[in-house]
Amino acid sequence: MPYILDENIIRDIRESNDIVDVITEYITLKHAGANFIGLCPFHNEKTPSFSVSPSKQIYHCFGCGEGGDVISFIMKYTNLDFIEAVKLLANRVNITIDEKEANVDLKTKKDKEIATNINKEVARYFHNNLLNDRSALDYLYNRGLKEKTIRAYGIGYSRDSWDDVLSFLLNRGYSLEQIEKSGLVVKHSDGNRYYDRFRGRIMFPIIDTRGRVIGFGGRTTGNAQPKYLNSPDTSAFSKGNNLYGLNIAKKYCRNKIILVEGYMDVISLYQHGINYCVASLGTALTPNQSKLLKRYSNDIYICYDSDNAGLNAASRALDILKEEKIEAKVILLPEGKDPDEFVKENGMDRFQYFLNNAYNYLDFKILFYKKRYNLNTLEGKIDFTKEISNMLKEVESPIERDAYINKVSLETNISIEAIKEEIKQKGQINSSIKDKYINNNYRNTNKYNILPVKYNLEPGHLMAEKNLLNFLIKDKKIYNHIKGRFLPSDFLDQVYRRVAEIIFDAYDNEEEIHLDRIIAYFEGEELEKLKEVINLEDDFDEDEKVKAADDYIKKINYYELKIQKNDIKEQIANIQNNKDSFKGDVEKLIRELCLKIIEIDKELKLHQ
Ligand code: CTP
Ligand code: MN
Repeated sequence: MPYILDENIIRDIRESNDIVDVITEYITLKHAGANFIGLCPFHNEKTPSFSVSPSKQIYHCFGCGEGGDVISFIMKYTNLDFIEAVKLLANRVNITIDEKEANVDLKTKKDKEIATNINKEVARYFHNNLLNDRSALDYLYNRGLKEKTIRAYGIGYSRDSWDDVLSFLLNRGYSLEQIEKSGLVVKHSDGNRYYDRFRGRIMFPIIDTRGRVIGFGGRTTGNAQPKYLNSPDTSAFSKGNNLYGLNIAKKYCRNKIILVEGYMDVISLYQHGINYCVASLGTALTPNQSKLLKRYSNDIYICYDSDNAGLNAASRALDILKEEKIEAKVILLPEGKDPDEFVKENGMDRFQYFLNNAYNYLDFKILFYKKRYNLNTLEGKIDFTKEISNMLKEVESPIERDAYINKVSLETNISIEAIKEEIKQKGQINSSIKDKYINNNYRNTNKYNILPVKYNLEPGHLMAEKNLLNFLIKDKKIYNHIKGRFLPSDFLDQVYRRVAEIIFDAYDNEEEIHLDRIIAYFEGEELEKLKEVINLEDDFDEDEKVKAADDYIKKINYYELKIQKNDIKEQIANIQNNKDSFKGDVEKLIRELCLKIIEIDKELKLHQ
């Protein structure tokens, strides 16, 4: 079925594909003043008369008269029709043309349009509130913001009232249903009353790359909890798919983008002249956000808080970006400072210094693992070296690899030869069998990275995951009880894991769990699975539930260890069957694996 692409998407695609970049992929262009020229691909010529204008984003041939924009160039050059050309260009810059979205029924489209219209009106309203509210303005002035910055980001203020926004919107003629769907009001738990979600908060409108206000973040000016409150996911807003500040960064970033944690970091850096910052909206960076970043920049810097949580988040973000083939760098500010505080206290030059000295992937990981493992102990040194060797095996340049081997050797006093041998073995194992546990101490690495495959879970395991998830969906207390000890990635069932990601995220953001919204993420078999979970009994009393949750976690851990054990057994069998293809010390490797099994057996006993 042919479908009509949204004009906005086409505009986005056109803007993201620089015409000079695209055309140089096909023909050679040379600078000629403000423009570029080359030999026209559409007629035969010996002297160049084909001109491309970067400022106007068009091409024109003075010889044959052919001309147009980036899309018509592709159509003409590759003989594609309009839609195909647009798709090719979308692909080039990682824009996904969601055929589903292109075809979404009119009602959903309408809903989204209404929600963004409501948000836009309310953003203006908040902004005016702010400009007329001395104490809210003072809050921002005290934090060092100038009026110009406040205007650039459309910052606003929500009055400390239960129904200010509600009555504003009713007066503007919106229905209660429309207002509720915008996420700006919350339904009272006992009945049909509604009240404003944001009260007495500095409001940061979140604007997408097409200029639509899709949601808000609100910071308390006092001590109210939570410090930041965000719009819930709505038809217009989905946190993991957007980045705060991208609407502005997109205009200025010629190349660089700096990814920071908070709204105020983006804004503060902007005021200091760095207008290419974005923040990931209070969640860990998601793959979709990485794709979005990649569309606008190939020189990405991460600048998170320099505390432990910030370092962990930066390490995760580096890996997620790496998955998208982005080699980002990390700007490490001195202990305890976020970028906002740092530039305010130390100024731009100091920030620029740390930017210029940003850590690349390996340098950051070395630093990161140095903190994690105690290099004063033998065990720490070994674990550290294994961890880094595991990464070094992927470094293609022998020179670069050697330099890092030297560095690790200096840090640990482990000989260069031993590290090389370690890397060599890893490279070989990796290329011949699934290398999942050998390099990872299964107790202290993030399981998320090492258990990505689909497993056929044993019934007992599945039941435990199912029951635990049911508790979590229905009772935030259980979430609070297990928080930090059990992560969404600890669910091995892929559907349960995704459900857990959604609800953990909601709880973290102080949002209520709306079953219908969760359900909307799933369909078909997956939805049936989710329904089964929700339909499980849960009327235990609180104490029983907490105990049961602990039991389920124990069970899950137990089964997980069993899976790991089987995996290692498989690896051993595999190695034994393919001994000839290994050059390293096969026996030693097998011994190591057997030791792992013994360790796991010990753990399994403890769990029984
Ligand atoms: N955040 C959130 N919800 C919370 C806490 C934080 O969405 N309950 C997000 C916000 O985007 C916030 C960012 O995480 O900007 C960083 O939070 P934090 O470091 O706590 O705050 P700061 O940005 O330093 O805020 P401020 O400087 O205003 O105190
Ligand atoms: Mn801060």
